[in-house]
Amino acid sequence: MDKLDIWTLNYRKEYNIYATFLEKIQIIILVHMLKLDYCNILVMGCYFMKPLDNFNEIVISEENAKKYLNDIEFKEFKLMSNEEKNQKLRNLLEKPIFEFTVINELYFRSKWAECVNILMGDNRLNLLEIASGDADMIPQMMARNNINSHYITANMNKELNSSLTNKTKDLPIRITLIDDDAANIKKYLGEEQVDIIAFQHSVNDIVQAILCEDEGIDTVYSNWIEILPKMIEIMKREDKNNSLEESVKLPFLNLIKSLLGVLKKDGFIIINHYMFQFDLELGYPEDIWENFVLITRKWLSELEECEEFAIDGFNEQWWIFLKKN
Ligand SMILES: C[S@@+](CC[C@H](N)C(=O)[O-])C[C@H]1O[C@@H](n2cnc3c(N)ncnc32)[C@H](O)[C@@H]1O
Repeated sequence: MDKLDIWTLNYRKEYNIYATFLEKIQIIILVHMLKLDYCNILVMGCYFMKPLDNFNEIVISEENAKKYLNDIEFKEFKLMSNEEKNQKLRNLLEKPIFEFTVINELYFRSKWAECVNILMGDNRLNLLEIASGDADMIPQMMARNNINSHYITANMNKELNSSLTNKTKDLPIRITLIDDDAANIKKYLGEEQVDIIAFQHSVNDIVQAILCEDEGIDTVYSNWIEILPKMIEIMKREDKNNSLEESVKLPFLNLIKSLLGVLKKDGFIIINHYMFQFDLELGYPEDIWENFVLITRKWLSELEECEEFAIDGFNEQWWIFLKKN
């Protein structure tokens, strides 16, 4: 660890400033130009996030944009200069997400298509998403990549369910919304019915919902953003008491075990995570927010029913792939 890292790690605790690789280089150059001691530049502190992906390996092609964006999104894409597209991509990959642009949509839809294609090809498939909220990147991807497929989501917040229904109503795939806790999945699906179970940025939401249930906080009929500060307070407490695993691991693994029942033999579970700047600003404990995948991986390693494997190009800080035995 070099001096800057020690300093940034100390600094980060107070200010949550994340920088891209280029910004970090600029700061180092500035420090040397001004002949500043590291301890004198605390006000310029930054933290280097593990990137979601390698910026230099991602091609934002017009061909992909045509495939994965709708007409309105594609027009917005065409209006951006290459420089703007690259800057937005770099921010997306190297910082907690602070803006929502068509580049985000394009990147995530393409990335999901990439791993689904590696695992299943572009065949017809039954995919079950857990806790989608109203995020539609998976059904949007399937409508373009896996035609004639069946997208199923188990999601229990009423408001987000109606928003998701609205966003996906014109997609040319079969969609089933299970308006219930995913722990009850066996009421709705038979054994070994789905090819893939996806957790698209949702392990954190599942964990938070488990904790809310223990506290008597309603997550079904409430507005998610309104209850988010309360959830973050609970996460802070769990972090401070180092009790997250004790509070959550068992119900979380029980949920996964129920889900494994509806997954075909040799079927896959895909989990991803990334950080939102908004949650950090509300005080989400950084160590948990940044390391959700690592925390979940440790819990999941106790399951004998499935095994983890890696896919090239998918950073293990942000992705988990499991195969059912
Ligand atoms: C903020 S939204 C999810 C957002 C989305 N995954 C994303 O891209 O960030 C949180 C959702 O998780 C759902 N959720 C949490 N735990 C759940 C569970 N056990 N079963 C079904 N839905 C759950 C909530 O009902 C809510 O709709």
